[in-house]
Amino acid sequence: MDSILVTGNGPLNGQIPIAGAKNACLTLMPATLLSEEPLTLTNAPRLSDIKTMTALLQSLGAEVSSLQDGQVIAMSSHDLTSQTADYEIVRKMRASNLVLGPLLARFGEAVVSLPGGCAIGARPMDLHVEGLEALGAEIELEDGYLHAKAPGGLKGAVHEMRFASVGATENIVMAATLAKGTTVLKNAAREPEIVDLVECLRKMGAQISGEGTSTIEIQGVDRLHGATHQVVTDRIELGTYMLAPAICGGEVELLGGRMSLVESFAEKLDAAGVDVVQTKDGLKVARKNGRVRSVDVVTEPFPGFPTDLQAQMMALMCTAEGTSVLEERIFENRFMHAPELVRMGANIEVHGGTATVTGVESLKGAPVMATDLRASVSLILAGMAAEGETTVSRVYHLDRGYEHVVRKLEGVGAKIERIKGQ
Ligand code: EPZ
Repeated sequence: MDSILVTGNGPLNGQIPIAGAKNACLTLMPATLLSEEPLTLTNAPRLSDIKTMTALLQSLGAEVSSLQDGQVIAMSSHDLTSQTADYEIVRKMRASNLVLGPLLARFGEAVVSLPGGCAIGARPMDLHVEGLEALGAEIELEDGYLHAKAPGGLKGAVHEMRFASVGATENIVMAATLAKGTTVLKNAAREPEIVDLVECLRKMGAQISGEGTSTIEIQGVDRLHGATHQVVTDRIELGTYMLAPAICGGEVELLGGRMSLVESFAEKLDAAGVDVVQTKDGLKVARKNGRVRSVDVVTEPFPGFPTDLQAQMMALMCTAEGTSVLEERIFENRFMHAPELVRMGANIEVHGGTATVTGVESLKGAPVMATDLRASVSLILAGMAAEGETTVSRVYHLDRGYEHVVRKLEGVGAKIERIKGQ
């Protein structure tokens, strides 16, 4: 297995291009199942998760071609051969469950493996099931698979979700585009990736309003046609790289960054003493003066502080002045980066869903282990500011969500290299 070797190397300067959003692309790709006409995505990120979704769609009989070095994904699901998403693929990537709604809507049948737990939590699918059942689906759990049927087609309904789940919102909205009648989804998730999905579905002929708010209304249509859609900028990659100059010092411009994607995150950075300025090309980030200050963080559904930036923010707080309390309210086990940061000299106490970080002057490089996607990049950020060398192992986690990390960080002056595993 490969590892990343990073050495503290002082302030950063330059520009980092931000890619298309992994979590938008992973819901836009299954949308191809809703139509027999081609769907083409541009500005797609080059990530292993995208390859996994490609394999899943191909296992259903869809044609998926990766063009222009992976930045364009051309898909057609005119002739599907299966409606079963196999455990072997779903267990590798939870987002595979996003084929459930589209398959049910187009074919009236879907068999999707339950994803099983993952490092950060149990991640059940009850909210997906409740929403699709509200649209008239009959869903049974057998031998680890959800067997979903809608023999007479789905019917629009008013449904309020118990929690603003991102994936459940995406599955229900996609299913409702082909349901008979009107669906009103309440307590819907408001993430930019959902807005991007709705904009793509609308290009395909869907009748949807309210995206980005807690109530989304969908008028079912008989069929959807093909479209071409540009994937929205990745706000989590953006936020991650905003932290690089915050942790190391210097000034970095994140190309393609938009303040509207990271409003609450940028507010937290401002309170910690980090300047974020919108330029014509993106976001320019620099420390206001010297050491950052500790701030408290609570993760919430959008527009609140994103859970996917909690691990990276913890890395910044490790060397901040004062004490920071980070509360993780979205996932039940998302502090696995904490003991690894402690190996680097951080002062962190975790009690249940709360981590208390008392800033230290400087971290010390050490061998550490990546445990999940966002933890892996949190350790790299910490290593960039630490004295000495840090080796981050199990970087296959990193490849799931960050393209060309070494190249992007080297480009602004980080001392970082990928070591091929034996
Ligand atoms: C999406 O996951 C993202 N993944 C996650 O990003 C992100 O952390 C999460 O939303 C929250 O923002 C993709 O978009 C591919 P949820 P999702 O349904 O849809 C519980 C990353 O690092 N829940 O909003 O799975 C669930 O267990 C990944 O890029 C239920 O209880 O998130 C969790 O505690 C990690 N029942 C909470 O809700 C359900 O039916 C949020 O889950 C569904 C979810």
